[in-house]
Amino acid sequence: MEQVSIGVVGSAGVIGQKHAAEVAELPNTRLAAVHDLNAEAAGQQAAALGTRSYDALGDMLGDPGVDAVTIATPHPLHLGVALDAFAAGKHVLTEKPITAAPSEADRMVSAAAEAGVKLGVVYQNRFRPDLLLIHEMVEGGELGELYRTLLDAASFRSQAYYDSGGWRGTWDGEGGGVLLNQGIHYIDMFQWLGGMPAAVTGHVSALMHDIEVEDSASALLEYPNGAHGFLHCNTTQAPSQTRLELWGEKAGVVVTDHEVKLYRPEVGLRDFSAREDAKPFDKPDISALPLMPGARTADHKDAIADFAQSIIDDRDPAAPGEEGVKGLELAAALIYSGCTGQKVELPLDRDDYDNLLDELRGGRKLGA
Ligand SMILES: NC(=O)c1ccc[n+]([C@@H]2O[C@H](COP(=O)([O-])OP(=O)(O)OC[C@H]3O[C@@H](n4cnc5c(N)ncnc54)[C@H](O)[C@@H]3O)[C@@H](O)[C@H]2O)c1
Repeated sequence: MEQVSIGVVGSAGVIGQKHAAEVAELPNTRLAAVHDLNAEAAGQQAAALGTRSYDALGDMLGDPGVDAVTIATPHPLHLGVALDAFAAGKHVLTEKPITAAPSEADRMVSAAAEAGVKLGVVYQNRFRPDLLLIHEMVEGGELGELYRTLLDAASFRSQAYYDSGGWRGTWDGEGGGVLLNQGIHYIDMFQWLGGMPAAVTGHVSALMHDIEVEDSASALLEYPNGAHGFLHCNTTQAPSQTRLELWGEKAGVVVTDHEVKLYRPEVGLRDFSAREDAKPFDKPDISALPLMPGARTADHKDAIADFAQSIIDDRDPAAPGEEGVKGLELAAALIYSGCTGQKVELPLDRDDYDNLLDELRGGRKLGA
C-alpha cells in the first residue's frame, strides 16, 4: 500500500476542513470521503474537493474504499466515532484531546488494540524539530536526572470565542476548559519531554469568562524521583506566552516563544556540589547554547502524513493512543485536585473522576 484512503469525520468544522484539504493534498493519503452532521456543508465540500460525502457515518464506515478515518468533531464525540470505526476495522487518527475523560481514553485504546488497528492523536508539536532534538537529548540521558520542570502556557480567548459554538466552555460539550482545549498541546509536549508526575496538587478557576469550565489552572507537580514541577495554563492573558523548562543534573533547557536554549554546567551539578575543594559560594561554569534547528513550527499535515505512513509501514504513529491518555490524565488530575482540594496521586482513579464530571455536568460549580 502506498496511499491510505481516508474519510474525515466532522469535516465541515474549522479543523475538519483542514484535515480534508490536507488529506487531499498529501502524497501518502487519498481523500476517500467526508462526513459531517452538517450534511449540506459536507456535500459542498465533497464537490469542491472531488470526493464523496456520506450523510450517515455508518455508510462511510461500511465503505470498503475507506481504510482509515480522522476525527475532527468536538471531543466528547471522539470516543463514539472511534468505537464505530474500530468495529468496522478502520484505523483512527483523532484530534486532541483523545477524549473528554481518561476512562473513555482507556476504552478507546483497548478497543483499537482488540480490533488490531492503529490509533493516533493529532499532536503536531511532536514534529517540531527543536522539540524532537530535546526529546532525543532527554532519552539519551544528556540532561541527566531531572529535578525541576515548568510549563507556562498563557493565551487569550474572548467571550465571543466561547460563545461561537454551543459546545465551547461547557462540561458537557468539552469535558474541561483551557486544560483540555488549548493547554493540552503543551501538556502533551511537557509530559513527552519531562515525563509524568506521580502526584498533582492543583487550582482551577473561571476567572474572566462566563463559562462553566476553567480558564485558569495551576498545579504543583511531584515526580517519582522527588523532583518538583509547576504547570500553568490560561486563556486570560495577552500577550500570550509559552515557556517550558526542564532542569537536569547535567543540563537544562528553556523553550520560549522566541528561543530554545541549552544550559550545560562544566560537570554534573551533584558532582560539583559534592566537591571537597569547593568554597561555599562556588558555582559551576555554565555554557549557554542556542538550540534551534530549522523551523520551530509543525502542522496538522505532519501528523496526518505520519499516521498514514504508520499504517503503510505497520509501526506506531508519533503520538499513539497510549500517549494521548497521558496528557489527558494530567489535565484531569489537575481538574480533580482543583475541584476537591485534594492532592491527587497518579494514576487518577477513573471512577472518581467520572463521578466528578457527572456532578460538573449536572451543575456543580468550579471550586464548590
Ligand atoms: N490539533 C489542533 O491544533 C486543533 C486545533 C483546534 C481544534 N482541535 C480539535 O478539533 C476538534 C474540533 O474542533 P473545531 O474547532 O474544528 O470545532 P468546530 O465546531 O469548528 O467543528 C466541529 C465539526 O464537527 C461537526 N459535528 C458535530 N457533531 C458531529 C457528529 N455527531 N458527527 C459528525 N460531525 C459532527 C460539526 O458540524 C462541525 O462541523 C476538537 O476536538 C478540538 O479540540 C485541534
